[in-house]
Amino acid sequence: MASSVIVGAQWGDEGKGKITDFLAERSDIIVRSQGGNNAGHTVVVGDNEYKLHLIPSGILYPEKICIIGNGVVIDPEGLLEEINYLHERGISTDNLFISDRAHVIMPYHKVIDRLVEEKRHVDQQIGTTKKGIGPAYMDKTERSGIRICDLMDEKIFRSKLKNNLEEKNLIIEKIYGADPIDFEEVYRDYIGYAKKIKRYIRDTTVQVYDYINSGRKVLFEGAQGTLLDIDLGTYPYVTSSHPISGGVTVGTGIGPTAINKVIGVVKAYTTRVGKGPFPTELKDETGEWIREKGHEFGTTTGRARRCGWFDSVILNYSVRVNGLSNLAITKLDTLSGLDKVKICVGYEIDGEIITDFPASLETLARCTPVYEEMPGWGEEISDARIYEELPINARKYLERISNICDVDISIISIGPKRTETIYIRKAD
Ligand code: IMP
Repeated sequence: MASSVIVGAQWGDEGKGKITDFLAERSDIIVRSQGGNNAGHTVVVGDNEYKLHLIPSGILYPEKICIIGNGVVIDPEGLLEEINYLHERGISTDNLFISDRAHVIMPYHKVIDRLVEEKRHVDQQIGTTKKGIGPAYMDKTERSGIRICDLMDEKIFRSKLKNNLEEKNLIIEKIYGADPIDFEEVYRDYIGYAKKIKRYIRDTTVQVYDYINSGRKVLFEGAQGTLLDIDLGTYPYVTSSHPISGGVTVGTGIGPTAINKVIGVVKAYTTRVGKGPFPTELKDETGEWIREKGHEFGTTTGRARRCGWFDSVILNYSVRVNGLSNLAITKLDTLSGLDKVKICVGYEIDGEIITDFPASLETLARCTPVYEEMPGWGEEISDARIYEELPINARKYLERISNICDVDISIISIGPKRTETIYIRKAD
């Protein structure tokens, strides 16, 4: 049995797509367990860049099996766009499977996502991707959601859509004063989507279980990041699913004993999109410099990401709540050229130093980072192929991070290409 989970250890956008692609080469099956097309994964293969949102990054390997698990919320229109995007680039989706238990994102979810966000006071806006993710998960927990298995049956779908739309149109019209959504139009569109995606639908819980039991290597690909987890993230500035490692079990239907390794993907600095406190945020030219050099603009929304120094309070929290066994450090190359680099080792609040990430955002907003300063490295590092080829100061920086959290670094990413990766020790 060999299965590994990849999780984002910060606020998402850690470069999980590239690390997944790298480890996918060493795996047989790649599975997504949560989120939807709010995620954005960029993978560079040779001269080609691929942007994926919903489909696991493993799809770029023709012989790998890719699964979208029951915990994912699926926008069929977005899914078909992504399938077409891959087909146009000559990539087959014959090995793609989608859970019959996954919930479907409906047009009213997207409309309500936008209307709710617009109605929030500007200070309280979450900065959602407006893909309908939150409202779809709300219907799931409220037990009125429409699942893929419902979409596959015209009669059931018709009746569930009718019930849902009656209520959603009341909300859309009466609360938000917006235009109602037409039943027949949605019904027709979605039955059309259903016909096109039918060939991919399976009971993926059985597939994943059988693959694990038959000794195949399964890689669970996380989306978003630990601090965007609905329970353990910086609530309410979070997504509506469980990006932490525990989300893999509920999102794919396997038990925790089936997981062998949890690889935390950590950017060599910190970024976040959307609102909410961010203790190590750099609102100066260094932050701007990192944003430009690191191309820190959202894959899904194009929004500029907020940038800051590395925060080991966050990493230690991530190690704990995910049970991280290995680290993959990404975008180390972005920091090349800085005179000095800083690592936050604690927060000062009311004259005390704390090292546990606080639950209260009001507390977090009052935290001042305590930094350790280290010398930077001037040289570009993307040509390094073994650890020893990295500048001594870059190595010291990595070793300090690994020491602080007591987890070994297995992979270092020093550029977007597959080849720009240093594999130090076995992670899969
Ligand atoms: P939602 O997931 O669209 O509901 O957005 C909720 C919050 O999660 C917002 O702050 C988004 O910017 C953030 N978010 C969602 N997906 C991602 C991601 O893949 N990377 C980084 N942030 C994300």
